[in-house]
Amino acid sequence: MSVSSSEKIKRFAVIGHPIAHSKSPSIHSTFAQLTGVQLSYETLEAPVDDFKGTIDQLQKAGWDGCNVTVPFKEQAWQIADERSLFAGRAGAANTLVFRDDGSIYADNTDGSGLVRDLQHNLQVELKNKRILLLGAGGAVRGVLEPLLAEKPAALFIANRTAAKALALAEDFAGAGVISGGGFGDIEGEFDLIINGTAASLQGELPPLPDDCLAEGGACYDMMYATATQSTAFMLWGEQHSAGLVADGMGMLVEQAADAFNVWHGIRPETLTVLAGLREGIVS
Ligand code: ATR
Repeated sequence: MSVSSSEKIKRFAVIGHPIAHSKSPSIHSTFAQLTGVQLSYETLEAPVDDFKGTIDQLQKAGWDGCNVTVPFKEQAWQIADERSLFAGRAGAANTLVFRDDGSIYADNTDGSGLVRDLQHNLQVELKNKRILLLGAGGAVRGVLEPLLAEKPAALFIANRTAAKALALAEDFAGAGVISGGGFGDIEGEFDLIINGTAASLQGELPPLPDDCLAEGGACYDMMYATATQSTAFMLWGEQHSAGLVADGMGMLVEQAADAFNVWHGIRPETLTVLAGLREGIVS
């Protein structure tokens, strides 16, 4: 039986270096089962110095799009012909669409995934709240615009290298509520503290004042914890009586759901996948 173009199985990949341990293929395969969408989704390790060559090959072979992760998100942004508002402001893209006319559309769903996890899954309000964002690298830049779009009362970026936090705050200054500095410049209490530094990867903790978390406030680590071990920042939250402590597993699943929606026009239900990841059924 011949396969008509409407029944063609769409092909996707997540591209990074390294990439072997990515959970994205399992997540997207589960979304496909839940929604009835036909797709294939695999991991692809691009050479560090030839991301563009890898993309060219995929386009020539008729693939439909890809997710992009470290260290290629900025290059993914650069090669795009058109970008979503969030990708445009992030200076980085995690989702590419290969269009039939050969052009590339770029989106960045990291920030929308974070906001969705906070507001929808965890019931953490952002509007009129005081948010402290730790770190000033690509991960933080990628989520700033979606966070600001929720109209917090204040957003302070604190970073080990204060100049980078100041420059980032300056870049997004239009929204008015944003400012930045070093960890020593953190003043007052915050309703939500988000850790976007790479410190958790090394089991380290940014030096935070003991009194910077408001009573009942939330601590969110963009890194994810293992089944048995919280990150150093999550432990800090527990020791400082946080009302809620969470890792970035929900952000991972929600950014994937937003990417799925960009490609297929359907936003899958996410709690099944999130529970599966937590229980080790989806890996
Ligand atoms: P990513 O794309 O993950 O954001 P990045 O752009 O290299 O990676 O940024 C890493 C962030 O983690 C930076 O904010 C970095 O602080 P500096 O700008 O001062 O380098 C922060 N970081 C890394 N290790 C850290 C540590 N041990 N303590 C505090 N901050 C750390």
